Amino acid sequence: MRKVGIIGTGEYFPKKVLTNFDLSQMVDTSDEWITTRTGIKERRIVAKNEATSDLAIKASREALVDAGLKPGEIDLIIVATTTPDMPFPSVACLVQRAIEAPRAACFDVQAACAGFIYGIGIAQQFIAGGVYNNALVIGAEVLSSITDWKDRNTCVLFGDGAGACVLAAVKSGGILATYLGSDGSNADLLMVPAGGSRQPASHETVNKRLHYIKMRGNELFKLAVNIMTKAAAEVIKKANLKSEDIDLFIPHQANIRIIQLVAKKLKIPENKIYLNIDKYGNTSSASTATALCEAVKVGRIKRGDLVLLDTFGAGLVWGACLIKW
Ligand code: ACO
Repeated sequence: MRKVGIIGTGEYFPKKVLTNFDLSQMVDTSDEWITTRTGIKERRIVAKNEATSDLAIKASREALVDAGLKPGEIDLIIVATTTPDMPFPSVACLVQRAIEAPRAACFDVQAACAGFIYGIGIAQQFIAGGVYNNALVIGAEVLSSITDWKDRNTCVLFGDGAGACVLAAVKSGGILATYLGSDGSNADLLMVPAGGSRQPASHETVNKRLHYIKMRGNELFKLAVNIMTKAAAEVIKKANLKSEDIDLFIPHQANIRIIQLVAKKLKIPENKIYLNIDKYGNTSSASTATALCEAVKVGRIKRGDLVLLDTFGAGLVWGACLIKW
């Protein structure tokens, strides 16, 4: 099996900033509540006519330049998203058309907030086995399109954005271990009830606001802490390493308190955690993707560093990935 590494990263966030103060004008909340309970100060929201593929395309272009790869050389495009432009065609095909990557096989992955790690895990197998030489994996979301802006329990949490990475066979280092998991028995904790085949869009579903995120936040919080801790421990063990060896921990940016509790259980000190939740909130599948790209850009990741990605989401699903940069 060939070693597989990340050879380029890119990100894109829409320009419009929605602050906690702005939200306090929309629902009964405050900057103080949101900051202390979640760590979020602001999030980005798409412009009118801007969709998930638009964000994905911009992040992809940056990742390809960073990787030094031409779009025509790409073998596989995977987009992780819960908010595709439309049910079909896939966002991956829309990216392919825009960046002009005719060789690529393209599909979307729906694994909620863990989608980017699922995408990495899938692409890794194709490249390790020699089927493809490289892959473009993107996490992209317009969560503002499924957020109920009248529900203070959820609307303060989410934002829009996209992150991308290029994977390829490498001679040394690269992905040391990947771990994916799911627990469908907790599917009801976080969902968008309507808009699929069970409750197709109708006047009734719209009137009942069923096309928006419904979440049992408290229950999810506790599960998230345990799941993310276990997923991270699993990849560390698989790679025969210890948590002290980790140079940078890049967790799913869902809630600062979840992240701090997971880091504490793993015995990872605060100075090794990468955070951008304050600026962007929870961007689901784009979360670890954009944080990884940003960490590279600001020099928090150097060659040889051990980087741990760790995430969980609706499904429930989870995934962790340990990379030697
Ligand atoms: N502003 C002010 N008050 C609020 C707000 C708000 N925005 N939202 C809820 N409250 C109130 C509640 O109504 C409740 O009031 P009550 O005691 O009078 O009933 C009180 O604050 C406490 O509510 P809790 O739900 O207990 O607050 P908690 O500390 O658990 O924080 C939160 C809520 C932030 C949602 C937390 O549970 C959480 O982060 N859970 C995990 C959610 C998550 O990560 N989801 C996504 C995972 S998957 C994915 O990323 C798609």
